[in-house]
Amino acid sequence: MSDKNESTMWGGRFTEATDTFVERFTASIQFDQRLFHHDINGSIAHAKMLNKAGVLNDEELSAIETGLEEIRQDAINGNIEWSIQLEDVHMNIEARLTDKIGITGKKLHTGRSRNDQVATDIRLYLRDAIDAIAIELRRLQSGLITQAEIYADAIMPGFTHLQTAQPVTFGHHLLAWNEMLERDYSRLMDCRKRMNQSPLGAAALAGTTYPIDRELTASLLGFDKPTENSLDSVSDRDFAIEFNAFASILLMHLSRCSEELILWTSAQFNFIDLPDRFCTGSSIMPQKKNPDVPELVRGKTGRVIGHLTSLLVLMKGQPLAYNKDNQEDKEPLFDTIDTVQDCLKAFADMVPAIQIKGDGMYEAAKRGFSTATDLADYLVRKGVAFRDAHEIVGQSVAYGIDSGKDLSEMTLKELQQFSDIITDDVFDVLTLEGSVAARNHIGGTAPQQVRAAAARARQLIAK
Ligand code: ARG
Repeated sequence: MSDKNESTMWGGRFTEATDTFVERFTASIQFDQRLFHHDINGSIAHAKMLNKAGVLNDEELSAIETGLEEIRQDAINGNIEWSIQLEDVHMNIEARLTDKIGITGKKLHTGRSRNDQVATDIRLYLRDAIDAIAIELRRLQSGLITQAEIYADAIMPGFTHLQTAQPVTFGHHLLAWNEMLERDYSRLMDCRKRMNQSPLGAAALAGTTYPIDRELTASLLGFDKPTENSLDSVSDRDFAIEFNAFASILLMHLSRCSEELILWTSAQFNFIDLPDRFCTGSSIMPQKKNPDVPELVRGKTGRVIGHLTSLLVLMKGQPLAYNKDNQEDKEPLFDTIDTVQDCLKAFADMVPAIQIKGDGMYEAAKRGFSTATDLADYLVRKGVAFRDAHEIVGQSVAYGIDSGKDLSEMTLKELQQFSDIITDDVFDVLTLEGSVAARNHIGGTAPQQVRAAAARARQLIAK
């Protein structure tokens, strides 16, 4: 064997073999082999188009299709030894095709470059990932909405600054999570819409001299249309960045939900119970039941946000058109996809299993003077200026702290010490039930509104 680079597909102009370290350093097959399905789909569409254009005859097309389908099966069965010398998934598959069907295999790459090939493959791969993620996101939302309906009347303390603020219902809280996820869903759909254009035909950067039909390959691959500009088609990875931005926001949301689940399962809050199957124990402290699943979701948010930064920095100084830098898009993107899928599955499985724990939430709502605003509003309705009402309620709360009583537990006499305007009807607003029921407007926490909001949310996710 000579020193020339005969084993590669581009060895023609080279006079010495690639350094073995450089071979490994520049290869992507270690991680891009997962694109094999989409690479084969892209190649079959390209070959069909070349056949229509008169570049491949019918026998050649059929040999290519059969050969590629065999390679797909080999890959599925794990019967391919991916080769570092062949650098990436595209050249591995092409070389194997040529091994199988001979010289016809070498014709497949007519009018195409790995630059438009890889740009096509990642879009196809990401599109399938988006569709799978969309289904899982909807499953999670559906679980939240069902739980919101179940717990439309369940009262808990609502917090600001993590201090008890006003009573809300647990159903209302869960629907707040659903709203975050609904926006994430619509961000995901936006991303899909923008990325679903076919770069195939851009070739290396300038297009090709063959009579190709880009509309045909675009439609065979389920793209909305061909991309407009060949230079842009092979170079930008903004669609991957946009997906990662979606993923970062989604994980930021799931991380916040996780944080709440973790707090709520603690003995100090004692609001909810997570079934044992979502928790683990401690090897030293026998009493422990740790909320590992939400903790890990919270933790994994970091890597996804990190990948967004990686991709942005990867792209920022690149001149047009394709640069090898772009090969670095895959590992962050794949890891983001995997992480999002796992975290969504964890949440979609876990949410329907959340149970509220006895009256822990209810008792907590009673403890923090959560109906203080209701008392102030009551006084205002009776003609007291809001600032004066605020002062009166402040004194009542101070008394409550000293005497260890919630506002709803005080007698009328006790309350009248602070304002003689207060009468018996005050107890309608001082109870937790009265407080939540009074917030009866779109977006409010009244059980009636929570049920209506859940019904609307259910309709939206069915679309
Ligand atoms: N493995 C390469 C990538 O992921 C494929 C494109 C290579 N193109 C090239 N001109 N070297 O980006």
